[in-house]
Amino acid sequence: MSNTIHYPEGNVLLRNLNKNYPVVTHGKGVHLFDQDGKKYFDGSGGALVATLGHGSEELAQGVFEQLKKVAYTNGMQFTSPVMEECAKNLAQKAAPLGLNKVTLLASGSEAVEAAIKFARQLWMDRGRPTKHKLITRTPGYHGNTLYALSASGRPHYKKVYGPLLSPVITISAPYGYRCPVDYEKEGAEYYARELEEAIAREGADTISAFIFETVSGSSTGAWAPPKGYYSRVQEICKKNEILMIADEVMCGSGRTGKFFAAEHYGLKPDMVVLGKGLNAGLMPVSALIVKEQDVNTMKNASSGFMHAQTYMLSPSMAATALTVLKYLDQYQVLEKSHEVSKHWLSELQSHVAPLEHVGSVQGIGHMAGVEFVQDKNTKSPFPIAKKFAQKFVQHAQDLGLILWPNYGQADGVNGDLVILGPSLLMTHAEADECVDLLTRAIQSFKI
Ligand SMILES: Cc1ncc(COP(=O)(O)O)c(C=O)c1O
Repeated sequence: MSNTIHYPEGNVLLRNLNKNYPVVTHGKGVHLFDQDGKKYFDGSGGALVATLGHGSEELAQGVFEQLKKVAYTNGMQFTSPVMEECAKNLAQKAAPLGLNKVTLLASGSEAVEAAIKFARQLWMDRGRPTKHKLITRTPGYHGNTLYALSASGRPHYKKVYGPLLSPVITISAPYGYRCPVDYEKEGAEYYARELEEAIAREGADTISAFIFETVSGSSTGAWAPPKGYYSRVQEICKKNEILMIADEVMCGSGRTGKFFAAEHYGLKPDMVVLGKGLNAGLMPVSALIVKEQDVNTMKNASSGFMHAQTYMLSPSMAATALTVLKYLDQYQVLEKSHEVSKHWLSELQSHVAPLEHVGSVQGIGHMAGVEFVQDKNTKSPFPIAKKFAQKFVQHAQDLGLILWPNYGQADGVNGDLVILGPSLLMTHAEADECVDLLTRAIQSFKI
């Protein structure tokens, strides 16, 4: 086998047909290794997935034990001890949010779609059939299946598939670097007013739900909301009878230092969606968690949530999530992660923020974003044709640092950023290694 794979070699439909792909053979902790023995620091846990690092025997064993007993049963026919325990653990964690009924799916996009359908069905079951529209934010991302993509505030993702997508109502996502008012002092009111205006324009009676990333992920580069934002949003949604769907596929499962990012803000959404860190990369699993009283409404009106997919509630998925949840509990991972994340974020701020072309550095917990600009004074982005983010991420990978890029956030077309999301088990010394690699990658990059 050659050292890297480049299309048309092999039979894999490669994600990028113009790129050389190193062949990764194994991982250990925060590091990945390719077949040449090259070591990479996984600074983004892939797509912010590997919250517990790589190559853990203990995690693999947790899943394996269940696979030996029973890997698959259909959720329409059975539940299982492992599924019951997984749901109980998640419900206990979701108690501060007031949510306690759990279903499992395979990907973030699927769980988002299920949440949007749940909201719509709930309005039908409540006898309010006019409520069907969805409010979403831009920049934002909720997935790549057709309705999740419709809900995503990423114009460049929608270009090709536009005719297949559904209309949604779009408002601005909190995005500190490009906020037209003082973000911390006036941001909450500024963004909340957009929500109020959208509701007034469309009519509350037509709107089913508002979906948002509690802390924005790759779309803005890990911007947490301004102070007071969610208390205003919660008030507006309650007054207008609009369901709140917290998409915590990226920011949930401990990524921000609390199991749910909503806990930072006292937010009580009607539904929460998890993915990525819920499975830590062991096997695909996502979750939708809802309120018992809403399930009761469905039970009385239509006998249950009308949604079915083959792998929903399968023991193998439950075992994957439960293994991760138990590991978080047993080793007090979140409690112990705070000191390292504080150090890591402050080191990023001191070493990376002052560098040329770095417009902003921000983050929360083990999640951080770095936005790049052509001119730090005017905040003007590089023209998209320069492919800054993609080229920079390739450069960093060549130096042994894995990052996750995004682009288009500045004005829907231009804008470059990278997002970091290392393992929650990263040590102090590894946090320094991450910052050092990123600093050197930026300093040595020539566009
Ligand atoms: C906030 C958010 N929601 C949904 C998704 C979609 O998840 P998946 O790629 O597992 O379908 C993602 C993926 O990046 C995400 O970041």
